[in-house]
Amino acid sequence: MAEENSADVGLIGLAVMGQNLALNMADHGFKVSVYNRTSKVTKDFIDANPNTPGGLVGCENLSDFLAAVKTPRKIVMLVKAGPAVDMVAKQLIEAGLEKEDILVDCGNSQWTDTIRREKEYSDRCRFFGSGVSGGEIGARFGPSLMPGGNGEAWKLLEPIWTAIAAKVDAETGKPIETATPGHPVTGGVACSAYIGENGAGHYVKMIHNGIEYIDMQLIGEAYFLLRNLLQVTAEKLSQIFGRWNEGDLDSYLIEITADILKQRDPEHPEAFLVDYILDSAEQKGTGKWTSINALDLGIPTNSIAEAVFARCLSALKSEREAASRHLTGPVYRYDGDRNELIKAVHDALYCSKICAYAQGFQLMRAAEAEYGWKLDFASIASIWRGGCIIRARFLQKITDAYTRDSRLVNLLLDPYFKEQIQNNQTRWRSVVALAAQAGVAAPAFMSALAYYDGYRSAQLPANLLQAQRDYFGAHTYERIDQPRGVHCHLDWSKPDRPQIKIAH
Ligand code: 6PG
Repeated sequence: MAEENSADVGLIGLAVMGQNLALNMADHGFKVSVYNRTSKVTKDFIDANPNTPGGLVGCENLSDFLAAVKTPRKIVMLVKAGPAVDMVAKQLIEAGLEKEDILVDCGNSQWTDTIRREKEYSDRCRFFGSGVSGGEIGARFGPSLMPGGNGEAWKLLEPIWTAIAAKVDAETGKPIETATPGHPVTGGVACSAYIGENGAGHYVKMIHNGIEYIDMQLIGEAYFLLRNLLQVTAEKLSQIFGRWNEGDLDSYLIEITADILKQRDPEHPEAFLVDYILDSAEQKGTGKWTSINALDLGIPTNSIAEAVFARCLSALKSEREAASRHLTGPVYRYDGDRNELIKAVHDALYCSKICAYAQGFQLMRAAEAEYGWKLDFASIASIWRGGCIIRARFLQKITDAYTRDSRLVNLLLDPYFKEQIQNNQTRWRSVVALAAQAGVAAPAFMSALAYYDGYRSAQLPANLLQAQRDYFGAHTYERIDQPRGVHCHLDWSKPDRPQIKIAH
């Protein structure tokens, strides 16, 4: 049996993410008690990692696992989001988890579940939610961490979170990616910051993923447009993305795209793997949750939702194949300047990306008011600079924007981003027009442009819409010559009668 009360932290759930997070903690000198429901997994993990700086303690049952950890215990759960979280929490409570112990859910849980769980387990433990982004490598060498929950519990977790998080250079904001097993990064600024009460950490992780969806969709559209219009190989496209990664678009997702595109297919070495991958996307739901939340709060994150729908449309593979034999589109051959098109797609991607982030931050602004959080947007952008899937050079600029003005209404109004779109929108518009002309689906580019044009329009056609609502359903309308809140109704069948005015 493990020495009692000796481990700094306990970690339950030894799938790859759990193993890597445990090793990351151990590399930073924390002694970690680990448990997996299949004991063989625990044993193999301990056997494979005998000499970590902090030390790993493998436990075969939950009482030993809890007994091994110093009190008040810090127990980190890496289990599948959903019912498994409650199941494991209840097992731990039964095994002796105590009221002062902190139980941290590091999965992609729904933030509403985290709020519910914090309340439900409040007399048995301090339930805490932390977003973790960065996939397997992030977990091992430095993820971006979005902790949310009880402030006192956070004080106890903070040293571990700060140590294991990704680090960025204090001056440039660039990720420091030099960690190797047993040799973690020292110095730099940690990509971890307390987000707020109850479900705030998981909420911000959900927004991260919503942005991840649109970031990926935009890259997909750039790839698809260039491939279709220029008729070039994946390898050539890899070079283009590689070049883009040296400029404003410098980001993890662009970098891996360049890598992916040049990968040959193991089965057909003369071909590229990407060309053999089925174009039917899957999803676990975080983009959908972001979009549902945006609809609930009435915030136009149309590009994020468009990215979710694009995955849904892609998944209708057999239906699309059938439709492709029946439905016609334009016959188009691009004969313009090829380099100009590459530049234009770059700018379309860049401008659309700015809009996508503007939408994500706009949603968080609405959420903090609705759910009573106090979100620090500069801090959120700063912890996304390293470790996470959406890490990008660009996030330093967002950090700067919210540092200049913490109450910025919309990222598009920040002087830097305003100028970026001003300078690059001509080519963005040309790409959207070209996609429509050529019949190439580019929903994210198009919806981002529609968002931009809609947001900058003082006048939209909703006047007519309001009139229609009043006409068929007496739903009333406000007038431009009356104060807001004065609702009017016209009896459209007898328009000579005076309007009814109701002040709310
Ligand atoms: C991260 C990722 C991670 C996961 C996605 C995948 O931040 O590390 O977002 O959480 O890879 O949730 O989501 P989909 O399966 O929905 O694409």
